Amino acid sequence: MIYLDNAATSFPKPPEVLEAVSAALSAPASPGRSGHAASLAAARSIHRARKNLARLFGLPDNSRLVFTANITWGLNTALEGLGLQPGDHVISSAMEHNAVARPLNRLAAERGLVWETAPADGHGFSSPDDFKKLLRPETRLVVLNHASNVSGSLAPAREIKAAVGEIPMLLDAAQTAGALDLSDAGDWLDMLAFTGHKGLLGPTGTGGLWVRPGLALRPLAVGGTGSASESIRSPDFLPDALEPGTANTHGLAGLAAGVEALLKKGVDQIRAQEMKLTGIFLDGLSQIPGLTVWGPRDTNSRVATVSVTLKGYSSSELSAALEREAGVLTRAGLHCAPLAHRHLGSFQGGGSTRFSLGPYNREEDLNSALSALDRLARLKA
Ligand SMILES: Cc1ncc(COP(=O)(O)O)c(C=O)c1O
Repeated sequence: MIYLDNAATSFPKPPEVLEAVSAALSAPASPGRSGHAASLAAARSIHRARKNLARLFGLPDNSRLVFTANITWGLNTALEGLGLQPGDHVISSAMEHNAVARPLNRLAAERGLVWETAPADGHGFSSPDDFKKLLRPETRLVVLNHASNVSGSLAPAREIKAAVGEIPMLLDAAQTAGALDLSDAGDWLDMLAFTGHKGLLGPTGTGGLWVRPGLALRPLAVGGTGSASESIRSPDFLPDALEPGTANTHGLAGLAAGVEALLKKGVDQIRAQEMKLTGIFLDGLSQIPGLTVWGPRDTNSRVATVSVTLKGYSSSELSAALEREAGVLTRAGLHCAPLAHRHLGSFQGGGSTRFSLGPYNREEDLNSALSALDRLARLKA
């Protein structure tokens, strides 16, 4: 099996992650709820996850980093929690995933939010100026998909934030956390949403949101927090205010271990390796007859996610043939990102077949994928 579907979820998970999940599940403990040793240890492992992520993102105060079930919940917490009013204006990129597009669309339909997307070129790139030009007195938020999960296009997030100045920016780092240096994010961002099971190498069911001091969010849900239990009012301090209910203890223990493995390997190291392999892959793809790459060729302006279509195949036929013929695992279709596919021009054909690399891929994996693609292309030539 050759796993090239890391943009969906990373595989393999480091052995430390599997051990941490299993150890947490073997312990008789609910974190932050009881005073016995196992419960305290469970709370400490969640604290370890918070601390490791704060180090990865350069956050001065890790209590402002809250855990959610995935980035979708983190993004909804931010978008719903800001209390946007009718007439408030939000700008997003043209390449948003449905985890942003659907909440924004619902806010527009049900609460009179005005949502605009920044103009972008054929690969989905917008300049800082494209965002700046859309600013109005009513603009309350800029939302940015840091890297497209379809084309791999990387947005110049720091520069866009500099261009929009005081307007808060929410970064969807689903495809960049762990894959790209974000170690100064706490210095320039307002909100950072992440998912634990992709580049952070943790289990599914983990993710979260960091919110800078000075921004307050209304929780999506309230309930028990194990703190301030004398009151039926939810606590207003973080992280408890945005973390009602028992945490995903084993998931977060795994995430703590995943981020530790990542920090040990080095994000820069991973980025360099992934870009070297992506360059080789893109070069190889350019030799395949009838193949179209939906995204940039320059590795400085992309992540290791490459979408293609091949003449004579639908995206799902190609994905199935790659698995059947060569054990290559990819993802076909629209990738929960219809806006991105519409923008790129790949929507009408039913989307693309997406190859996405992770830190454990080797050049041999890409060579196998390339020869399989070449064989399949010649069958329909
Ligand atoms: C850019 C982007 N945002 C959001 C998500 C949603 O991630 P999750 O399903 O982990 O909430 C994804 C997942 O593919 C994504 O690629």
